[in-house]
Amino acid sequence: MAASPLINVMVAAARKAGRSLNRDFGEVENLQVSIKGPANFVTAADHRAEDILYNELSKAREGYGFLMEERGEIEGKDKSHRWIIDPLDGTTNFLHSIPLFAISIGLEREGELVAGVVYNPVLDEIYTAEKGKGAFYNDRRRLRVAGRRDLSDCVVATGIPHRGRPQHEVFRKELRVMMENTAGIRRTGSAAIDLAWIAAGRFDAFWERNLKAWDMAAGIVLVREASGVASDLNGADDMFATGGIIATNSQIHRRLVPILKDAASS
Ligand code: IPD
Ligand code: CA
Ligand code: CA
Repeated sequence: MAASPLINVMVAAARKAGRSLNRDFGEVENLQVSIKGPANFVTAADHRAEDILYNELSKAREGYGFLMEERGEIEGKDKSHRWIIDPLDGTTNFLHSIPLFAISIGLEREGELVAGVVYNPVLDEIYTAEKGKGAFYNDRRRLRVAGRRDLSDCVVATGIPHRGRPQHEVFRKELRVMMENTAGIRRTGSAAIDLAWIAAGRFDAFWERNLKAWDMAAGIVLVREASGVASDLNGADDMFATGGIIATNSQIHRRLVPILKDAASS
């Protein structure tokens, strides 16, 4: 199926920012040996990618608003559209020369998520979705979430809170119950990739707390268009307000919501 003009615009912006991140990623490997590491360089790479996305998308769709990780909220003349963007999701991986990071571009229309693109420029993997039109991998293969029905067969991704992040104890409780009930746990370090890989059927389920809208926006569209379910930890559609997300197929979703709720309140 030919991609729509909207998806073409998003893919072109993602690929251009991806070329910039790839060039900088090559440099990061050389900087690992310095004592302070490449931290400042990575911050600059992040901003460079964001500038490219802002410029390309402003040119292609005049007046749309933005919510970007680095620049924050930018109101547009067009009040009905807003891009929600993380120019570099997986910063810690990038900083440590681990090739798992992504550009995440979501689009809201009248407050509803309608399109998403997640691009990993090192693996050159691009995931695209538009409401009502399905989700695709590298513009070709249609995506569908994994169909496993028993939690005991499921490989589950999550995000692990670290120094400076809240809710360590709640996470330990959730992890304990998931360790006991699943086939394996994974932590990629990029929520956008976690969600894209749910859409692609690589992971069976994903849960995380304390995320931001730009970590999730594109991925939510991908999961839903791949016939999956994405909700907050209460099973409601309040991911941006609560920061929590569960993404999986509908069967596993029905099981996971109460399991995680009971674990957190135990
Ligand atoms: C982070 C990643 C990570 C998640 C963190 C996010 P960043 O985004 O998505 O997987 O666990 O909560 O902050 O900082 O790399 O853009
Ligand atoms: Ca992020
Ligand atoms: Ca980021």
